[in-house]
Amino acid sequence: MLNNIEFLSNVPIFSDLDEETLQKIAKSGVIQNYKKNSVILSEEETGSALFVIAEGKVKISRSSGDDKEVILAILNESDFFGEMSLLDGMSRSATVTAIDDSKLFLIQRTEFLELLRKYPDVSVALLTELTKRLRASSMKIKALSLKDAEGKVATVLLQLADEVGKIRHGVVEIDHLPYQQELANMAGTSRETISRTLHSFAKKGLVELDGSRLRITDYEKFKEMFN
Ligand code: CMP
Repeated sequence: MLNNIEFLSNVPIFSDLDEETLQKIAKSGVIQNYKKNSVILSEEETGSALFVIAEGKVKISRSSGDDKEVILAILNESDFFGEMSLLDGMSRSATVTAIDDSKLFLIQRTEFLELLRKYPDVSVALLTELTKRLRASSMKIKALSLKDAEGKVATVLLQLADEVGKIRHGVVEIDHLPYQQELANMAGTSRETISRTLHSFAKKGLVELDGSRLRITDYEKFKEMFN
């Protein structure tokens, strides 16, 4: 049981629930800790729980037989994952790996489905988040199939800006840019292309690079150029 329910009340899909219900969820779930780089769940296994990130970050990925990996999304504190196999009863659709030491809150399938049936606001909030993810996936398909190298890399930067970026006065700051190989796995391109394109963006003044920190200097303009 969590010491307090503050964390759950900050999770968007639970934010409309009253304190009593949050207490119930807090009591019925368990916290599990995962070390950086550990696999939380694997593609193809059976799903029995929903995971909510209390602390840390995870990556959602799929891999092919030849060990190539494509990163579908990066999720942060208060995000959830693992809902798909609970809803459709099929196996896990992707592999989820901790990219920081992470603390996860697990809710068993029966309790999760009961929440959806009992609280329409939770269902609507879940659908809203799934819609957002579908939009992001559509954007990714477009980038992978239609765009040139710059478009692919820009799409990944826009995805990161949305997922982990901080926006202030039209500038987006991404504090911990993933390694170039990971960016390549997100963009469906090579590490060399990532390196070349980031430097070309920097030369054009579209981004500023400072160690693992990246700034998109004019977020609106960047979106207009590459969306
Ligand atoms: P599930 O299929 O149970 O297990 C893997 C989880 O990864 C899945 O539920 C979703 O929560 C998450 N996931 C799968 N595909 C995507 C995607 N394209 N974007 C974001 N999250 C995803």
